[in-house]
Amino acid sequence: MSSTTKEATASLKERVRAFWQANPCGVKFADAPAGTRAFFERVEAHRYAKEWHIPAAADFQSARALRVLEIGCGLGTDGAQFARAGADYTGVDLTDAAVALARRNFELQNLAGEFRTADAENLDFADETFDLVYSHGVLHHTPDTARAVREIHRVLKPAGRAVVMLYHRDSYNYRVNISVLRRAGARLLHSEAGLRLAHLVTREPVESLREHAARIRADGRSYLSPEEFLSRNTDGAGNPLTRVYSREEARALFKDFAEVRLATHFLNKRWLPVVGMILPRAVEARLAARWGWHLWIYAKKGEKSTEY
Ligand SMILES: C[S@@+](CC[C@H](N)C(=O)[O-])C[C@H]1O[C@@H](n2cnc3c(N)ncnc32)[C@H](O)[C@@H]1O
Repeated sequence: MSSTTKEATASLKERVRAFWQANPCGVKFADAPAGTRAFFERVEAHRYAKEWHIPAAADFQSARALRVLEIGCGLGTDGAQFARAGADYTGVDLTDAAVALARRNFELQNLAGEFRTADAENLDFADETFDLVYSHGVLHHTPDTARAVREIHRVLKPAGRAVVMLYHRDSYNYRVNISVLRRAGARLLHSEAGLRLAHLVTREPVESLREHAARIRADGRSYLSPEEFLSRNTDGAGNPLTRVYSREEARALFKDFAEVRLATHFLNKRWLPVVGMILPRAVEARLAARWGWHLWIYAKKGEKSTEY
């Protein structure tokens, strides 16, 4: 990597860190003060009501007695399920904010777990340390995702498993909602009346729409570029980096693993006007298995460790 590319990557990483430090993932879904018992209970209830596929897809129970590393632990909501299931759990996150909240979550529930602030691309763990590495909605936000996947492979024991969720390129959310509907809707944000209309139609908070509008005013060309539009229209207008992966791209990322299985979940029904509200779960699950926004990668490391 040239020194200019290294600097650009470092500054992007710093912007990623600063965004998540200021906006710990999931905080906006709870109406109780951050760090309180009520807050963690509401975050958890909201998570598994909205993303009801997670417990089955992550199969927390299968981690009993395993040494588990979670990369990008956020508030420790999934981490707590691993710990309750009897895993020997370690959670890392790029931000001190997430690590402090996840640690607090475990303390309030009397759960055992280790936490560290760490970068997925440079893990401070010895080779072949963990039986299972889990990472949900994280590695599409880091500048060098391939490097993070190599780190997962390195820290896994032979025959260890990785369970990783990345955003899915061939999903309804990316192909239709983000690339067509939201892009068309961005035109409304040029005027106050248009912004109000966008709020009425989408229920997206006015402050969030105003942040998008300000970015369009500041530099519309760059905001509308495919990469930036995707980043700004997934986890908040301030989010500096998001990528999406097709099934083929995911397989290529995990090429060093001996076995790879893929599954897609979660339709993000907020963006399915009217129909989304009345869709039975069975139908939703069938549609999500093809067009879901969350691409789950189940990868197994070979029995013998691979040299780098
Ligand atoms: C969308 S949140 C997901 C949190 C949690 N896994 C969940 O599903 O709720 C993304 C998290 O990834 C973390 N993150 C981003 N880049 C990272 C990196 N390079 N190393 C470790 N964590 C990272 C952020 O700090 C943030 O907490």
